[in-house]
Amino acid sequence: MWEKTATQKSLQQLREQAVHIFGPAAGYQACGDIGEGRMEDPASLCTMAGNLFVSGLLSGKKVVITAGPTREALDPVRYISNHSSGKMGYALAQAAVAAGATTVLISGPVQLTPPERVKTIAVESASDMLYAGLDEASGADIFIAAAAVADYRPANIAEQKIKKNDENMCIQLIKNPDIVATIAALPKRPFTVGFAAETENLEHYATQKLHKKNLDLVIANDVSDTEIGFNSDDNRVLLVQTGSSKALPIMNKNLLAKKLIEHIASLLNTPPAIRSQH
Ligand code: PMT
Repeated sequence: MWEKTATQKSLQQLREQAVHIFGPAAGYQACGDIGEGRMEDPASLCTMAGNLFVSGLLSGKKVVITAGPTREALDPVRYISNHSSGKMGYALAQAAVAAGATTVLISGPVQLTPPERVKTIAVESASDMLYAGLDEASGADIFIAAAAVADYRPANIAEQKIKKNDENMCIQLIKNPDIVATIAALPKRPFTVGFAAETENLEHYATQKLHKKNLDLVIANDVSDTEIGFNSDDNRVLLVQTGSSKALPIMNKNLLAKKLIEHIASLLNTPPAIRSQH
């Protein structure tokens, strides 16, 4: 029904009258079909409606966000990657644009629709993401690295599909550039926020990343818990900054993104010396 010409024509008319359309979501339909046409879930509808009332917290600011996984090619048909769905980064982009920011989303390969009013740049590898990040970081006020970037890539990309010959195979990997650390080292750096995806010692490793990468804030999540983190709708994070840390309860990534953007906006407006009180 969704794809029928009459439905699409009516939608077009509504769009021309500046009516906001939420959804539809995709999946199983009541009639048994699979595809687009389901109602969005109520929590997402609430978030999308709330986002229409621009808070203005970041009006006049430029925010750059990385999201999703990177893919590091082995040969023309194979790659190394991870389970990031992009949901956290896309939710942050949605929240940033809702707060009035000019928002750029640099996204690895994901199955999500880019938020409206966000400039989205599709990339594949960590190197692509770095170049796009450096391009967009100039003039940016805030850089948020939510992407799960591959730390290593194959030293050589085979020109042809690698054949299955031996029982064992060794792939030599070389280190990828650290995107968020590179941005944080720029002479005119934006307020730089990294994530830390850890399976143990969350606060300890997040604090290490804060200092090693010279970040203003680290958003740490425990990715050993399958209810949160990678490819889930919810997340529970610990906000780690110099001199303080604050745990947030588990919540939907859309709501969490809104809270994170509010927190980042308040830090941005606070002199560095007293940021730990936030
Ligand atoms: O995409 P979802 O399914 O919604 O899942 C969300 C998430 C779990 C991917 C997200 O919440 C998250 O934790 N993202 C960061 C994942 C990660 O790679 O963390 P890390 O601890 O390995 O890296 C630390 C920080 O350095 C991150 O901000 C990362 O983007 C950045 N990094 C890492 C390596 C690299 N070469 N360049 C980087 O910029």
